[in-house]
Amino acid sequence: MRKIIIAGNWKMNKDLKESIDLASSVKRSLYDMEEVEAVLCPTFTSLGDVSDIITGTTIRLGAQDVYWERGGAFTGEISSYMLKSVGCAYCIVGHSERRQFFGETNETVNKKAKALLKEGIMPIVCVGEKLDERKAKKEFDVVKDHIVNSLKGFTREDMLRTVIAYEPVWAIGTGINATKEQAQEMHKYIRGLINGIYGEDVANAVRIQYGGSVKPENIKELISQEDVDGALVGGASLKADLFVAIVKGCL
Ligand code: PGA
Repeated sequence: MRKIIIAGNWKMNKDLKESIDLASSVKRSLYDMEEVEAVLCPTFTSLGDVSDIITGTTIRLGAQDVYWERGGAFTGEISSYMLKSVGCAYCIVGHSERRQFFGETNETVNKKAKALLKEGIMPIVCVGEKLDERKAKKEFDVVKDHIVNSLKGFTREDMLRTVIAYEPVWAIGTGINATKEQAQEMHKYIRGLINGIYGEDVANAVRIQYGGSVKPENIKELISQEDVDGALVGGASLKADLFVAIVKGCL
């Protein structure tokens, strides 16, 4: 059985006080949520404080990015070992915004994910096609490229500790989510790719989140799909009541 995982990607939103307020509100409703794994991914500057708030609850902490070296002369970067020290259980890598605005490639995603796994942090590896790629019917090729190359060299154990987030770029922040059929079709395809590389046991265990305009109104139908194991939530994770409703919508 794959445990549903709902992660809130706060992106570059919320200062320290706002982060503390949001995490505290979420905690009030989800502190003992056993059935669904809820993960909060604040900015680097709020990780430590959010960590303090959710320690001792079932809510887990995630970061939004990482650099692959452990330490050294890399001004401005944060390593997996540092994320570990503030209590991160997860870290998003390869989000489309990082691919689009910050030069992230499958190769750098791969290095980052491996650095996280080394520290026992579970990577949430984002994949997904842009609108023009879907229009050109290239969505499966693009996702295959992301999967195969972002996960290159992963052992079976690495794969079992990795979460995949399928996020069609055209659905992110647009209010237009993929239909449940579109999500299921791609999630099944992704699971098939993992099956091809690691076999059925691993493929059946790996969790695949959907991301892109997830809200309380559409979570139920998305999560009802066989291969949809959770969601990576942007905009709606910035409001405690919406995020809580999404998590509870999975019950
Ligand atoms: P959205 O963002 O929920 O605001 O569409 C999703 C994401 O980018 O992870």
